Amino acid sequence: MQDLDELLRIDKDSIWHPYSSMSSELPVYHVDSAAGVLLKLNNGQELIDGMSSWWSVIHGYNHPQMNLALEEQLKDMAHVMFGGLTHTPAIQLTEKLIAITPDSLDAVFYSDSGSVAVEVAMKMAIQYWHAKGKPSRQRFISLRSGYHGDTLGAMSVCDPDTGMHSLFSGVLPEQIFIEQPQCRFGEPCTDNDIAALKKALTKYGENCAALIIEPIVQGAGGMWFYSADYVKQARKLCDEHNVLLIFDEIATGFGRTGQLFACEHADVVPDIMCIGKALTGGYLSLAATLTTRDIHVTIDSGEPGVFMHGPTFMANPLACSAALTSIRLLVESDWQKNINRIQRSLEDGLAPCRQLTQVSDVRVLGGIGVVELKEAVDMKMIVPKFVEAGVWLRPFGKLVYVMPPYIISNDDLATLTSVMVAVIADS
Ligand SMILES: Cc1ncc(COP(=O)(O)O)c(C=O)c1O
Repeated sequence: MQDLDELLRIDKDSIWHPYSSMSSELPVYHVDSAAGVLLKLNNGQELIDGMSSWWSVIHGYNHPQMNLALEEQLKDMAHVMFGGLTHTPAIQLTEKLIAITPDSLDAVFYSDSGSVAVEVAMKMAIQYWHAKGKPSRQRFISLRSGYHGDTLGAMSVCDPDTGMHSLFSGVLPEQIFIEQPQCRFGEPCTDNDIAALKKALTKYGENCAALIIEPIVQGAGGMWFYSADYVKQARKLCDEHNVLLIFDEIATGFGRTGQLFACEHADVVPDIMCIGKALTGGYLSLAATLTTRDIHVTIDSGEPGVFMHGPTFMANPLACSAALTSIRLLVESDWQKNINRIQRSLEDGLAPCRQLTQVSDVRVLGGIGVVELKEAVDMKMIVPKFVEAGVWLRPFGKLVYVMPPYIISNDDLATLTSVMVAVIADS
């Protein structure tokens, strides 16, 4: 067995971490194991996880029932191709997803990551319009400060500045960007707030396949919570202009915002919806794109009569079993009460940040707490301070945020938030 120094040397020399450079001075921490809300580092230190491994590990790590579901599934098969074959975990998961997602979403396409689920959604919209005899409808309207993934199509609808579109200008399809809604969650959406979308639809609607948004919460593009009324009005405008509406619920799905899916805050049903991340309770990579009967029947009736996508690991049985168990654990628990508990604790715990001169805004929704600073954080300084204090948080830009596993205790929540307050005060 190689020693830790040797392992970390190989890591540093040869592995890219997300959005990193191999010559970076930023440390990476070696995790030996994880259980509940704790990440155990190689040196024996335990960190309270405030990230849920990027929104996904909602039931905590090493969960006995999740583990058991995978062990049982392993006895049957770890994987089998989905072309021409099917299996019970995929069928049962499909039944469950159709039951818990908004009515009228009744067809599911499985893929292996959120980015691919977004690619699939975009391709569905384009094929739909092609089948309708409107092949010019190929562009997408998207919100600034949005984030939808890192593959080229998904990236084309991410914020053009933070997504560095300038670097990829020759290959990225050019989409239409409108201002991020300024109306906050809980506020009404004024004519002024919706004006940019109205204008874009009027000007470009004829050539647009769909509007794609993260409903209610813009995640990795800015951790911004906006008005449910905006989402309602967006639905109405899309209908008026005959433009499809895609909801990217990859980050927001499965209870994180206080509703099972964030679109339920607005009581709006999209034409296409992407889910991922917490779908498997963070155990395995699985994503899905759901759509309506109208859309899949139309695609089937057009050229070439099939939907043009088919990943190798589509509907992986292990991942589907994990998803089934994760959804069961969630819906059979008093999850909404629990998210309310987390929300209250985050509100109380982060309130002192409002007094700090370094802070420009504090916002909390469901299991998400965000402290926006006036200046971008110095990652080299702040992350080691969090680790020293026994918590795992990974800020970006001006945003220090927390979204813990749903099983977190009030004591651990209090530790997370008090460390955030202390470290920000000291920054
Ligand atoms: C809203 C949203 N869409 C899409 C993605 C991409 O998902 P993945 O990283 O699984 O490709 C993310 C990931 O952070 C996301 O937050």
